[in-house]
Amino acid sequence: MLRQVFGGILRSPLVRPLRRLKAIVRPDSFLKTRKRVAQKYLHGEGIEVGALHNPLPTPQSARVRFVDRMSVEDLRRQYPDLATLPLVPVDIVSDGETLSSVPDQSQDFVIGNHFLEHCEDPIGTLKNFLRVVRPGGVVYCAVPDKRFTFDRDRPLTTLEHLIADHQNGPAVSRRGHYEEYAEFVHDRHTPEDIQAMADHLIEIGYSIHYHVWTQREVLELLGWLSRTEPFDVELVLKNEGEVIAILRKHLT
Ligand SMILES: C[S@@+](CC[C@H](N)C(=O)[O-])C[C@H]1O[C@@H](n2cnc3c(N)ncnc32)[C@H](O)[C@@H]1O
Repeated sequence: MLRQVFGGILRSPLVRPLRRLKAIVRPDSFLKTRKRVAQKYLHGEGIEVGALHNPLPTPQSARVRFVDRMSVEDLRRQYPDLATLPLVPVDIVSDGETLSSVPDQSQDFVIGNHFLEHCEDPIGTLKNFLRVVRPGGVVYCAVPDKRFTFDRDRPLTTLEHLIADHQNGPAVSRRGHYEEYAEFVHDRHTPEDIQAMADHLIEIGYSIHYHVWTQREVLELLGWLSRTEPFDVELVLKNEGEVIAILRKHLT
């Protein structure tokens, strides 16, 4: 009974803005851990993809350029709930999944915090991150654990699904992702409401969380990828509701 009552409250429209706010405002302790890891691993010249309002604090020995899929002006339109917060200047407008304008082996590091879940093809994205870093360079990724986010009711994304999206192209599963997001994040329940919300999100090009994981699936993905890609996992760290992973590209 209590579960039903509290379950109802958690799904109410009043709670949705609170969940969203929680996702925007990150606690100090959380940022301090990100910063400590950055101090240790990030040096030289690199890029951060999708920094938005929350760039990773990097050491003085690091120079960062910001990549996003949109200009700041367009990001302002896409994220009206960030109106009062400063956004980073976007130096390179590009699809962070392909990084097609970034040459191979040109960066000492690539940062993608709370970005991989926004990727339609996370395997392809990680391969491209590794493509643009120099031998010995670092990929710094923080991935939210769905149990601590507005994704908590969504089914976990399996490794098989990620492999299929990578091999067959993400268009096959695109609509399904939007429908799932409409149902579980926007609390639409009838088929008509789900379709209408999915149509709306697709029409405005809203970048949803396509895939959702807990720490276990992140580890599974990295283990699988390390069989074919030239990197070592230097660090995996649980940071409150996210997993920070540091990958270092092999020297040869
Ligand atoms: C949730 S925000 C991440 C904010 C911040 N990095 C953090 O840790 O809180 C996701 C960012 O990724 C960007 N993004 C989503 N898809 C993208 C793509 N394909 N290429 C480049 N940027 C993308 C969004 O525009 C947004 O700036």
